Amino acid sequence: MKNDTEDEEYEEIEPSLRNILDQESLKWIFVGGKGGVGKTTTACSLAIQLAAVRRNVLIISTDPAHNISDAFSQQIGKRETAINGFDNLFALEIDPEMHTQAMADSMGDGANAGLLSELMNSVPGIDEAMSFAELMRQVQKMNYEVIVFDTAPTGHTIRLLGFPQLLETGIKKLIGLKDRFAGIFSQISSAVSSMTDSSKEEVLTRLEATKQIIEFVHRQFQDSNLTTFVCVMIPEFLSVFETERLIQQLSKFGIDTHCLVVNQVLFPDKDSNCRKCFARVRMQQKYLTQIGDLYEDFNIVTVPLLDNEVRGVSALTEFSTHLMVPFDPTTESSSNDADQEMNGSE
Ligand SMILES: Nc1ncnc2c1ncn2[C@@H]1O[C@H](COP(=O)(O)OP(=O)(O)OP(=O)(O)O)[C@@H](O)[C@H]1O
Ligand SMILES: [Mg+2]
Ligand SMILES: [Zn+2]
Repeated sequence: MKNDTEDEEYEEIEPSLRNILDQESLKWIFVGGKGGVGKTTTACSLAIQLAAVRRNVLIISTDPAHNISDAFSQQIGKRETAINGFDNLFALEIDPEMHTQAMADSMGDGANAGLLSELMNSVPGIDEAMSFAELMRQVQKMNYEVIVFDTAPTGHTIRLLGFPQLLETGIKKLIGLKDRFAGIFSQISSAVSSMTDSSKEEVLTRLEATKQIIEFVHRQFQDSNLTTFVCVMIPEFLSVFETERLIQQLSKFGIDTHCLVVNQVLFPDKDSNCRKCFARVRMQQKYLTQIGDLYEDFNIVTVPLLDNEVRGVSALTEFSTHLMVPFDPTTESSSNDADQEMNGSE
């Protein structure tokens, strides 16, 4: 029964990532999923699309196995590197160690730094967490309008995104234990016994500052005006399974996710009668139906399996159009026609 408010009630959810370009308030965009499904390709392509509509864009790889250099076919390092052909698109491959060191430096020197590193060693995962918070703090200062994260495969990323909560609780406890402070630390650090009251006070002050950084990161993550997580998957059992786990974790952390990229969907040539291809199409179709049912309130975009791997700006630009315009197998071929440059090289 339709009525005249039809437009609002039956608003279709667009099968594209265009809504991400339209949501101008977005600052942190995570791209994640199972290993090898196309996270890096999607993150780089999305960054290219964003560069066309936003003042400036930074793409950061948080995967220790860094592969945005390979995707852009350009050497990218620990410093912001401009992507060839763009004047507002930059990339960065972070070295986790570096940020842990920067964090330690910001905590002071001498006995305090020693204490901090011992503290870090005593809580599993805390170094990674601090380093990520420090990264966010530094990135925040860089004045990018939007930051795209190409993340490591699911398990690692879930851990990373859970850190703010973990750390916040941990640091609160430490600060709460103020009175017994010296006693607690002297168990883990011989440096503490030689510390004066004022330097103990200083460590507390620094912990308080760290807590504020982490709370800041946490608040940003949980604000759906600022942060969203784009899940990339392929229509296969393991990927569907892992995506569901990821989406549940994100909801637990309070991180918005409403976009799904279903990558590597096979569209055989019209005149093909290859049995292998059709068997695969049937298999994929089964999961595509499941995905549609499970995530009916998501923007789901299907991207065809292309004939070639996606490397270099023009191939990524071509891939990026598939994120924006739903693929129509009746009018398009899924080969890589990287002959047109959408934007970029001038
Ligand atoms: N739709 C597609 N058609 C053809 N090749 C694709 C497609 N999507 C991705 N690829 C290729 O598949 C490979 C894996 O993609 P990508 O590196 O983006 O995955 P990933 O999820 O980042 O992997 P990892 O978990 O190793 O970081 C790359 O060589 C990429 O060019
Ligand atoms: Mg990758
Ligand atoms: Zn075939």
